[in-house]
Amino acid sequence: MKILVTGGAGFIGSAVVRHIINNSHDSVINIDKLTYAGNLESLKTIANNIRYTFEKIDICDRSELDRVFAQYQPDAVMHLAAESHVDRSITGPTDFIQTNIVGTYTLLEAVRQYWGQLEAERKVAFRFHHISTDEVYGDLPHPDEVAGQLPLFTERTAYAPSSPYSASKASSDHLVRAWHRTYGLPTIITNCSNNYGPYHFPEKLIPLVILNAIEGKQLPIYGKGDQIRDWLYVEDHARALYKVVTEGIVGETYNIGGHNEKKNIEVVKMICNILDEIQPKAIGSYSEQICYVTDRPGHDRRYAIDATKIAQELGWKPEETFSTGLHKTVTWYLKNEQWWQRVRSGKYQGIRLGLGEIK
Ligand SMILES: NC(=O)c1ccc[n+]([C@@H]2O[C@H](COP(=O)([O-])OP(=O)(O)OC[C@H]3O[C@@H](n4cnc5c(N)ncnc54)[C@H](O)[C@@H]3O)[C@@H](O)[C@H]2O)c1
Repeated sequence: MKILVTGGAGFIGSAVVRHIINNSHDSVINIDKLTYAGNLESLKTIANNIRYTFEKIDICDRSELDRVFAQYQPDAVMHLAAESHVDRSITGPTDFIQTNIVGTYTLLEAVRQYWGQLEAERKVAFRFHHISTDEVYGDLPHPDEVAGQLPLFTERTAYAPSSPYSASKASSDHLVRAWHRTYGLPTIITNCSNNYGPYHFPEKLIPLVILNAIEGKQLPIYGKGDQIRDWLYVEDHARALYKVVTEGIVGETYNIGGHNEKKNIEVVKMICNILDEIQPKAIGSYSEQICYVTDRPGHDRRYAIDATKIAQELGWKPEETFSTGLHKTVTWYLKNEQWWQRVRSGKYQGIRLGLGEIK
């Protein structure tokens, strides 16, 4: 197959591209605008592979999309390009509306035109795989508030997004479903929980905590740190996405999750414990650097995925536990200082995740 991946220079996109090149005979055309979040250094290990091509393109640019589809004639699209950071969407939603909604619409229209003129066999086999988030479902009851068995997000959970980011992703999911229902475009949607792992941009919780810890800085925690997220190792997600694009049923949605519900404060303490073990400080524990910052407005309390459908229908299960995945992640950041130093010294200014508001 020739797979056109959008956003392949980002955190999850680069894991998907590396996974496809390293584990299949398929080719990848990576189209990415290279915003602050896109980093071609994350693709260094496969960049010279003959089955890999990169094109610097904005998914809002219809004529460039038309050129790329005509030139490469892909068999499938995996759409990951997005503005993805909730804090950025709160301070500046414009780019989120533009890329996540208008960009997805522009891409769907380019794909519809391209797919419409394919010969019958290729038309039937074609897939448009839209990669989305569990944040479209809003939040779930928290164990501090409700006793007993707690609900999980299933593929039937109603959409109730809370932030400009999740609302823009929910909009894009609706567009994709409508293009399937109205035009028959062979689409599949996946909604995944929080990812973590190597090459994660250091404004997100886990890499931020690892890097601040080893640099002797404060470890900022929103509110009381009791928000619950369901963490999935990024390479497990990449494997799931490849399974869905190659084996998933057209028109279906699959939830992807790690069965790793953790409070943010637990995650931060686990990172501190790993660092205490593998790179101890001269005196004391990294956990002494923890501090609490004003909570994010509209902060969702709990996310948790029921991933039964993808397990039963496609036979996918995560390989990493949270403990093994977190060990691998911390070790990767310790060994790959050049990668994150360059990210930090470049466009990224380290101003997010409440770092401007530490009290
Ligand atoms: N990170 C998570 O935990 C998570 C969880 C579930 C779903 N998702 C979804 O997975 C996808 C990838 O997430 P990520 O964490 O890798 O994001 P990311 O921010 O690390 O990467 C996004 C990539 O998209 C590119 N991009 C942005 N705007 C573009 C545009 N207009 N045209 C072309 N390229 C553009 C960026 O340059 C970057 O390479 C997103 O759609 C996100 O909503 C993320």
